[in-house]
Amino acid sequence: MSLADGSHVSETEVTTAPRPLLLADGRPAARAWSLDPALRHLNHGSFGAVPLAAQQRQNELRTEMERAPVVWFPELPARLAAARVALAAFLGADPGDLALVPNASAGVSVVYAGLERRRGGEIVVTDHGYGAVTMGAERLARRWGGRVRTARVPLDADEEGAYQAVMAEVGEGTALVVADQITSATARRLPVGRLGTELRRRGVPLLVDGAHAPGLIAAPLDGLTCDFWAGNLHKWGCAPRGTAALVARGPLRDALYPLIDSWGAHDPYPDRFDQQGTVDATHYLAAATALDLVGSTWGWPAARRYMDELAGYAEQVVGAAVTRLTGTDARVDVGMPVPGMRLVRLPDGLADSRLAADALRDRAAAELGVEAAFTSFGGVGYVRLSAHVYNTAEDYEYFAERCVPVLGEWARAARERHRTS
Ligand SMILES: Cc1ncc(COP(=O)(O)O)c(C=O)c1O
Repeated sequence: MSLADGSHVSETEVTTAPRPLLLADGRPAARAWSLDPALRHLNHGSFGAVPLAAQQRQNELRTEMERAPVVWFPELPARLAAARVALAAFLGADPGDLALVPNASAGVSVVYAGLERRRGGEIVVTDHGYGAVTMGAERLARRWGGRVRTARVPLDADEEGAYQAVMAEVGEGTALVVADQITSATARRLPVGRLGTELRRRGVPLLVDGAHAPGLIAAPLDGLTCDFWAGNLHKWGCAPRGTAALVARGPLRDALYPLIDSWGAHDPYPDRFDQQGTVDATHYLAAATALDLVGSTWGWPAARRYMDELAGYAEQVVGAAVTRLTGTDARVDVGMPVPGMRLVRLPDGLADSRLAADALRDRAAAELGVEAAFTSFGGVGYVRLSAHVYNTAEDYEYFAERCVPVLGEWARAARERHRTS
């Protein structure tokens, strides 16, 4: 295919899709989830999806809780401490470093609330940071009388380029660095391992936002040097929502307390997080059921391989469709890509801001029957394609054939509105 810029994209570059995964009884993998078959689910990354087995396990636990609440709650801390062991093994962490928190945002908030002002009070973030996490850093810096410094990491930066871009913002005044293990809008990795080693040497704390890492990266904490890490089991791990981990290593962890003051306050870290007043904590206890479903049916390494191959196929099929439509290569050169997620550039006029991207997500769900992630980075709009075990090639072929032409129409209309406004 000839492109407007004179280059060529070969249709034969599209590799074959991986064979769909099946359950032990031969049914499609999707049957283990309760996702609406009338919709296409191409955005596992944003909110995850909980398999039926884990939903059922959580319902059983809720029934147990409701049968005898006065027995349930006093026993809960010990059950949560036991649950931490399985989750820590999955993450490659020491259970003694791991506290349960309801989401990655809460884990980050705990760190922001616990840190004392240090040195110049500057916090280094990147321009790929998750908006809510960056806003929290800005508030903390204001409280400290410091400021946020934003490292600009080009989308195509390799490990060396990304490392240098972040370290260029680190100086005498740096009190904290916040870096994503996997970025949200741009579906790329940042070199948190290398950053962690160097920042430890300089005595600068590193908070790793690992929201997307559990399940996508095998044992994301194994060998990682950092003071703090927060990540979700309810995204790629498919745990019931509200299941996340905060991992803290080093002396600063003793300053970390749950966001809810409760009876564990005098306990050491991380035990004090096992008491959060009267809350429904059944999601933590049911999380292992979700991890086991994938682990025992396909094995996590094979599941990850499938997700990555399928994401690669999705990128090619959808990328080719957008390229045909616009005449401009829609493929995106992402440095340090991640398994299971890919970016494809949208036609100009779509998702040029975060708000526009969110509005496009809502419109696509309502009018196209597609749950998809649209993101914006540097004023450019992308569709971020996710692939989990329940997805098949047909999901992305449908999107390419049926949705991309409509996106083209919407883009044309948006450009026209922009021109006449
Ligand atoms: C990089 C990143 N950080 C933090 C979060 C927040 O996760 P949660 O809403 O579960 O707190 C997300 C969610 O998508 C994310 O992608």
